[in-house]
Amino acid sequence: MTKRNLIADVLRLKTERKALILAHNYQLPEIHAVADVIGDSLELALAARKATEPVLVICGVRFMAETAHILNPDRTVLIPNLDAGCPLADFLTPDIILETKKHYPEAAVVVYINSTAACKAVADSVCTSGNAVRIVSSFPNRQVIFGPDTNLASYVQSALPEKEIIPIPEGGHCYVHMEFSPEDIVEVKTTGASVIAHPECPEEVRRHADYIASTGKMVEIAKTGDSWYICTESGMLERLYELCPDQSFIGNEDAICADMKKITLQELMTCLRDLSGTVQVPPEIMAGARKSLEYMLSVP
Ligand code: 13P
Ligand code: SF4
Repeated sequence: MTKRNLIADVLRLKTERKALILAHNYQLPEIHAVADVIGDSLELALAARKATEPVLVICGVRFMAETAHILNPDRTVLIPNLDAGCPLADFLTPDIILETKKHYPEAAVVVYINSTAACKAVADSVCTSGNAVRIVSSFPNRQVIFGPDTNLASYVQSALPEKEIIPIPEGGHCYVHMEFSPEDIVEVKTTGASVIAHPECPEEVRRHADYIASTGKMVEIAKTGDSWYICTESGMLERLYELCPDQSFIGNEDAICADMKKITLQELMTCLRDLSGTVQVPPEIMAGARKSLEYMLSVP
């Protein structure tokens, strides 16, 4: 089937199913073309929470679909490919968090939204790349256990020297954001480009960036200049071209999230047609995970 036919089918099925399609910024342009909401993790979570449609289709990775179900449990939440996970999220388990907590009983626990629902259930709060500093600083505790991303943990630590951020031991990182090097940034800056880095980039990369931002915030920042080097997943370049056609964006074509690219138009069509790919968070995890997410959303 051609792309055009698939798009027509998806749009027809979306209406028939009364579905809302929410797509992450890293998704393919053809997925963006049929989506109702496009954004970063926080924007997708907020849109899912207030959605009134009976079916929410999450074009992203599994933790995003879990988050949608936790925040709006009466909806049918679908993901077009159940294999679309996040290796960073899968690294962390509730046992690792609870073991770390034994060593730091006074510490608050903040987990990145890129984590499983079971991890969210044993945390005090969730955070995203866009609000991590604000969420951590909302706790009176001096010590804050933070995971699974050690790069985001070090970013929060540098912004909040008064806190002791305790990265989850042997913590994880996102392989996509490890594709960027300080040397590349130094070179690209000689061309006059400004640099926006995602906080999942390592410290030696972030150090050279003009801005550090979530993918949602990158869109706002990009409007303020002409020529940009974007240190995040390469799908973000397409998104920025869509929104800012007069600006120039370069990035690293090796920075590809294989899981984000598992969502195709064909799978989206099948998912809407068969109502397949249901994501349901088990009831015993739901209440705790919801409390952590709602805490995050309550922080002004
Ligand atoms: P954002 O919330 O900034 O879109 O980040 C999500 C993510 O998975 C980055 O790799
Ligand atoms: Fe996970 Fe990295 Fe992919 Fe984001 S880019 S979903 S952190 S693997």
